[in-house]
Amino acid sequence: MGIQISPSILSADFAHLADEAAAVPTADWLHVDVMDGHFVPNLTLGLPIVESLLKATSTPLDCHLMIEDPDRWAPAYAEAGAGSVTVHAKAASAPVRTLREIRRQGARAGLALNPAEPVEPYADLVGEMDMLLLMTVEPGFGGQRFLDLVLPKIRRAREILDSREASVWLQVDGGVSDETIERVAEAGADVFVAGSAVYGAQDPASAVESLREQARR
Ligand code: DX5
Ligand code: ZN
Repeated sequence: MGIQISPSILSADFAHLADEAAAVPTADWLHVDVMDGHFVPNLTLGLPIVESLLKATSTPLDCHLMIEDPDRWAPAYAEAGAGSVTVHAKAASAPVRTLREIRRQGARAGLALNPAEPVEPYADLVGEMDMLLLMTVEPGFGGQRFLDLVLPKIRRAREILDSREASVWLQVDGGVSDETIERVAEAGADVFVAGSAVYGAQDPASAVESLREQARR
């Protein structure tokens, strides 16, 4: 699949989401951060806005659920038409069932790990997922500093996925910018979420292309 860029609308203008989606026409995905004010100390948007966004853009939605009880809520995002739905491992009480349910509803299923969570306990789950998301900041807010301490885990995750010949995408989220993306790509990630680096730029479309260029180096 190669390098993919998923701009996070968390850093966009929530009053003009359709325009903000249109501002990044070459993005592979649009990353939608769903936060419930419980799993993370921030509140963003939920299913009704995702449904509206699905009608407003042809770019597939990459829904990142930072919510409690994703077992209950995640399948509905897939059923609504999200292209990818990611749940946090520590929030899910039945991750295998939930990942299967997301797939059954026709979306790609993702599993997310926070910076301090090890990847090894999930090695046997790779057959159940289409994407592994390694957070490179503590989830909850855009514009945080990239945590270099996650780089060794990205390398280990890449080794695990390669050794199992799993066609699982490896996504990173948090602090990805022109300054950091090269080393993240070198560590083995292939799907890059970027919020402030894209929507904080003068020209979001060229910011996407610049990130893609840096990741390919
Ligand atoms: C943080 C979110 C990220 C956020 C990234 O919890 O999951 O998707 O938008 O923002 P930046 O790229 O600014 O770190
Ligand atoms: Zn995110």
